[in-house]
Amino acid sequence: MTSTAEAVPRTRAHAEAVPAVEALGLGRRYGTVWALEDASFRLERGQFLTVLGPSGSGKSTLLKLVAGFERPDRGHVRLFGAEVDTVPPHRRPIGMVFQRLALFPHMTAAGNIAFPLEMRRFDPREIPARVERFLELVRLRGLGHRRPHELSGGQQQRVAIARALVFEPGLLLLDEPLASLDVRLKEEMQLEFRRIQRELGVTTINVTHDQREALVLSDRVIVMQGGRILQEGEPETVWRDPAHPFVARFLGVGTMLRGLAEAGPAIRIGDRRLPGRAPNPATAPRPGRPAVAALRAERVRIFAASGSPAPGTGFACRVTDTVFEGDRVLYELIVPELGEVRLRAVDLDPGGHARYRPGTQVTVAWSPDDLLLFDASLEPGSDP
Ligand SMILES: Nc1ncnc2c1ncn2[C@@H]1O[C@H](COP(=O)(O)OP(=O)(O)O)[C@@H](O)[C@H]1O
Ligand SMILES: [Mg+2]
Repeated sequence: MTSTAEAVPRTRAHAEAVPAVEALGLGRRYGTVWALEDASFRLERGQFLTVLGPSGSGKSTLLKLVAGFERPDRGHVRLFGAEVDTVPPHRRPIGMVFQRLALFPHMTAAGNIAFPLEMRRFDPREIPARVERFLELVRLRGLGHRRPHELSGGQQQRVAIARALVFEPGLLLLDEPLASLDVRLKEEMQLEFRRIQRELGVTTINVTHDQREALVLSDRVIVMQGGRILQEGEPETVWRDPAHPFVARFLGVGTMLRGLAEAGPAIRIGDRRLPGRAPNPATAPRPGRPAVAALRAERVRIFAASGSPAPGTGFACRVTDTVFEGDRVLYELIVPELGEVRLRAVDLDPGGHARYRPGTQVTVAWSPDDLLLFDASLEPGSDP
């Protein structure tokens, strides 16, 4: 059989240039609702991608289409250069870990890890050594004889990871496997996922609603809302230059100010013109139209009322509440000059206590670079 594709000599360099995953205009509809709309991205080999979004944003649907548990109503998936639209999940090069680990309770850890090898008809003589190797990889050496109920939550997680990876799939898919863990165990397992992923170099797609996890773990981040990809990029970029007000909000921006866009760019609120920065041309506000400005609490500096910054740059405001968090103090402020708008500020060097009590007059200031401007019509529920 000959085809154009096969006629092209496939060098090693060529194979390495082919991305691990390509999603091309993927869509999936349930009834009349699109759970996923027009999702396109590519993921290079060896990279760790996190799909970040709130519940119901379409993350699992996207992962199911990559895995083959669901068929797309539109678009295509390519894995390692091959179109897989008609390939069932068990014939795709993927290992998966879900929130429900679904370990077999009657089998030992080693038995659970061996299971995918038996299903794939690995040489039985090769299986024990391979199981040992993966027990070691997930730091469970010597515990292979235990059943799941004889293991801690974290150890069960490790069995599930080993089981997903033992047959050395090209792609690891994680659907919120850490969502039900307590914070400490979750942070430990996040670092373990990263270590194992780096050790094996396995391309990974991780789904989560936890923004911190996305930033800590990933080479690339996709932010989703309402079945759509709002932004795709490196963690630093998504953090520093959110392309959409929702992305800013989801990545922890505490203050959204509303006003009218002016050239510059700037936002006008009452009598004050606040210069800012539009992180993305596609979502930049147009002069004369409603705008929203996103401002991170930790970018707002707070001064005693008498110790104001350069004239014309600060705002007088009143402390309404303080939250002492040990290494930082969060302030809730009211800014009369901006129409009694509420603002959040963080003091990152509180010296062990909140310096300003509720009721105190203070001054706040920020750099125009930190005031992120967007077209207000992108925000649901925005004032017309
Ligand atoms: N099998 C299904 N039948 C009907 N609606 C579904 C089904 N699966 C998902 N949905 C809907 O699709 C949307 C996206 O779901 P999902 O991909 O599970 O989101 P996430 O994983 O981000 O929470 C939701 O509104 C959800 O209710
Ligand atoms: Mg989900």
